[in-house]
Amino acid sequence: MCARLIDGKAHANSLGERIAASLPAFAAQTGRAPGLAVVLVGNDAASEVYVRSKGKMARKLGMDSFEHVLPESAGQEELLSLIAELNADNRVDGILVQLPLPAQLDSLAVISAIDPAKDVDGLHPVSAGRLASGLPGLVSCTPLGCLMLLRSVLGSLAGLDAIVVGRSILVGKPMAQLLLAENCTVMIAHSRTKGLAEKVRRADVVVAAMGQAEMIKGTWIKPGATVIDVGTSRVVRNGRAILVGDVEFASAARSAGAITPVPGGVGPMTIMSLMHNTLIAAHLRKGFAPPRLW
Ligand code: GUN
Repeated sequence: MCARLIDGKAHANSLGERIAASLPAFAAQTGRAPGLAVVLVGNDAASEVYVRSKGKMARKLGMDSFEHVLPESAGQEELLSLIAELNADNRVDGILVQLPLPAQLDSLAVISAIDPAKDVDGLHPVSAGRLASGLPGLVSCTPLGCLMLLRSVLGSLAGLDAIVVGRSILVGKPMAQLLLAENCTVMIAHSRTKGLAEKVRRADVVVAAMGQAEMIKGTWIKPGATVIDVGTSRVVRNGRAILVGDVEFASAARSAGAITPVPGGVGPMTIMSLMHNTLIAAHLRKGFAPPRLW
């Protein structure tokens, strides 16, 4: 292996220390800590783990955490009425509704009901529109974490050819916007893209976010490229369940200049970006200048 390993855990820990260190100043001005509300509907095992770890991290850093769990059978009105309560609650600076939601619920309508000032997930159409318009705003956590890692490896990204594989509103689309704002030349690839291997081969920066285990082969990676792997799929190898990313790690690491591992790459940055966004939202809601922590 010749690639540098991008240690997301270490970057996240260091950002977490800066977030925690900024809380006393906020408390001195407001008499309280920033508050994050996390909403889980149903009992999807992976979502339960994510929601628990988000609440736990908020408390660990010294923020207030409000966790709400609705039954799998919850209706749209019940969820919208919870969102309205959280919008009106002054202790709550950030609201995150864990996705995916059960099939009877309209995710986009739910996300759109969140007060954009509290949209720490960055998924509200107002947040997406601000990002596309080049206005400051709350940016979706996973792409924001990926950008922090890319900046830490590359410094300036200007002029680089970037490919984002995946076009979700959670990762692919906001990631492409962020890379464009960094002056990359950006291609968005997806399940219908023709000749993906050739397109990946031309990229200096590869962000893999389509949720398909090891779909991007190591031989596709341009020598020296920076590879950010957002995927986490559980697969069974030699009778053992392991997590793998969207990129074939071992062979990609022979070509890449730097690469994120799975786990321990993007995952910890996603959670810490959420904490970062909660801190920023808390400041902006109070009319304070937000601290610049990265
Ligand atoms: N499910 C998986 N990742 C995310 C995320 O970043 N935000 C939300 N709301 N749900 C998710």
